[in-house]
Amino acid sequence: MAARPTAKRSPRRDDGGEHPSGDPRFKLIDRTLKRFQYQQDALIEVLHTAQEAFGFLEEDLLIYVARQLKLPLSWVYGVATFYHFFSLKPQGEHTCIVCMGTACYVKRAAEIVASLQAEFGVEPGQTTPDGKLSVATARCLGSCGLAPVIVVDGEVLGRETPETTLSRLKALLDTSQPEPMAG
Ligand code: FES
Repeated sequence: MAARPTAKRSPRRDDGGEHPSGDPRFKLIDRTLKRFQYQQDALIEVLHTAQEAFGFLEEDLLIYVARQLKLPLSWVYGVATFYHFFSLKPQGEHTCIVCMGTACYVKRAAEIVASLQAEFGVEPGQTTPDGKLSVATARCLGSCGLAPVIVVDGEVLGRETPETTLSRLKALLDTSQPEPMAG
């Protein structure tokens, strides 16, 4: 791993606003950043929040965290790959993250998770044997007004039921089947 930067604290950040994508999950990262006053020592905590919100740490997230903490990307990447509890990409072709925060939980999020287990045989943190679908759970995704919330392939979807989630995923998995060979 690269040598650790010596500066302990970064009193200012350079973007002055929320993430341009408007994805509410970045607000969760921002909240953690603020709670730790943008201290570089909070890197692991911030990466945890990012992984809980997004399910895994794609490069875009690592870049965002590095910028906010004013750390070299190589350092952030090094930390993310060093610890086994961080995952840099989903294992499945598609991902479904179910929010299990309080607001979503009371609106039957656990039933959505159970329906995924029953239909696809995967528990949170697992991928189907054919590599098509990874399922994960997260804490509050920052869109409680839409509870229960799921995120399918990066798209935040609200007011889900076990039925709507299953039909979405079945349609998605059907369309991702390989085309039959002509002829
Ligand atoms: S508890 Fe699910 S979005 Fe807040």
